[in-house]
Amino acid sequence: MTSLATSIGGRTFDNCMMNAAGIRCQNKKDLDALVASRAGAYVTKSATPQKRAGNPSPRMHTLPNKGSINSMGLPNNGLDYYLDYVVDDQHKRPDATNFLSVAGTSLEDNLAMLHQIQESEYHGFVELNLSCPNVPGKPQVGYDFDRVNEVLDEVFKFYTKPLGVKLPPYFDLVHFDQIAAILNQYPLTFVNSINSIGNALVVDPQTERVVIRPKGGFGGIGGASVKPTALANVRGLALRLKPEIAIVGTGGITTGVDVFEHILCGASMVQIGTQFGYEGTAIFDRLAEELKAIMNQKGYTNITEFRGKLKTFDD
Ligand code: SIN
Repeated sequence: MTSLATSIGGRTFDNCMMNAAGIRCQNKKDLDALVASRAGAYVTKSATPQKRAGNPSPRMHTLPNKGSINSMGLPNNGLDYYLDYVVDDQHKRPDATNFLSVAGTSLEDNLAMLHQIQESEYHGFVELNLSCPNVPGKPQVGYDFDRVNEVLDEVFKFYTKPLGVKLPPYFDLVHFDQIAAILNQYPLTFVNSINSIGNALVVDPQTERVVIRPKGGFGGIGGASVKPTALANVRGLALRLKPEIAIVGTGGITTGVDVFEHILCGASMVQIGTQFGYEGTAIFDRLAEELKAIMNQKGYTNITEFRGKLKTFDD
């Protein structure tokens, strides 16, 4: 039997694929559909302390065969909404672990939300989003290494439940070294790499205009175009992080081969964003069958047999 199961921080998941925060996970209906699907877990839309409308439309634009550009600006129903959902789900399915994403626009907001979660009965994973590129006037924390250190220092003074961070893509090996040296100091359960490639610009030559309204057209790129950057970040972190920190690989997954490549680079779990937006929950059936077919062809029966085993020309 070919198994797609995985484990992170001592929790097991029967499928190593799930949605990425922001995509079809903003309300109860979306989350119920994920629960009913073949995804191994779900992550909720990144929450702020209060409900947020996000940026003005148009704020997302499809790039055929390439992915998408978005500047959503964290539209969400507020932490209470998602915390209620995950706690309720925990009562219904006590053996399932899921991910609650939080993305405060200040350190104070993040600490307040994590205090609330710490004091709640929720015992699943929290994904602290340090990488949203789309809130005007709020730079991505993940690019300010001192600030990342300060945030994690403050968080781990009181937070004792399983926590991971969602990172932006890095583009220089010295930055992989620097961020890994910081992350390795903390009892993180996982890191999720990558968020969208932030502050890109797509131009419509017909109208001679940008394609999204917020931030003068600047937005994050997701989907097929970002796969090489995502794989580099998963691999770069896998080579540097201590083994207790699992890697969730996100970026550019449209096929089972893409999932296979993320796992080869070191991912224990993968998240699908843009393409899940296009296909809906049926994507988890398709990708599961495609990944199983590759594993069968290669004689692998479970993902640990090839996870992190990418070869280079020096091997
Ligand atoms: C958004 O809501 O702008 C996207 C969230 C993110 O990129 O973290």
